[in-house]
Amino acid sequence: MELYLDTANLEEIREIAQWGVLSGVTTNPTLVAKEFAARGEKLSQEALEGHLRAICEAVGGPVSAEVTALDAEGMVEQGKRLAALHPRIVVKLPTTEEGLRACKRLSAEGIPVNMTLIFSANQALLAARAGAAYVSPFLGRVDDISWDGGELLREIVELIQVQDLPVRVIAASIRHPRHVTEAALLGADIATMPHGVFKQLLKHPLTDLGLKRFMDDWEKVKP
Ligand code: E4P
Repeated sequence: MELYLDTANLEEIREIAQWGVLSGVTTNPTLVAKEFAARGEKLSQEALEGHLRAICEAVGGPVSAEVTALDAEGMVEQGKRLAALHPRIVVKLPTTEEGLRACKRLSAEGIPVNMTLIFSANQALLAARAGAAYVSPFLGRVDDISWDGGELLREIVELIQVQDLPVRVIAASIRHPRHVTEAALLGADIATMPHGVFKQLLKHPLTDLGLKRFMDDWEKVKP
């Protein structure tokens, strides 16, 4: 399973990219808005496009950039403009009727599409039939309403395998490290997670304690 960062923050991307295990990035309008607000920068079209290009340069893999239009025509227009920014851009579309129509058109032109806000296996099936390259089921938001995000992911992974559909599954809305383990065991192709969760994947108190003991023992006898 590949590991993606779910962020629009360049420092976070550059930090994790240095680990050598980062395969891609996903963004969404909330994450972009948060990033520009945190920097006190006004969000212009030019600034947004520059920022997305910088993200693409910072990560050696696909970068999902989401449209904000709600109609198919507008989504296609925005999607083409986003795709022209950098060869690594994947156009992210909401899983709505208009989103499906836009997905079909963009995919037919060879532009990779990530269908987002997936909360059922049937939505994933529709997205795959519309030519999506990726589907993004939201585990955490399903868990938030006391349903089972893992069960949603299991169904989608199984459906795609049984039907032999050419689409990759991104486990999204990851809230904690257990979600990542669960997604990997369930056969997700990718998990996209916030910077904090990425860092938690590595941390274990016994690793820190063990390393300290090795170093203390070595200090006593080192040549
Ligand atoms: C997916 O690509 C989304 O950007 C993301 O995972 C949403 O996560 P959230 O539910 O934490 O906002």
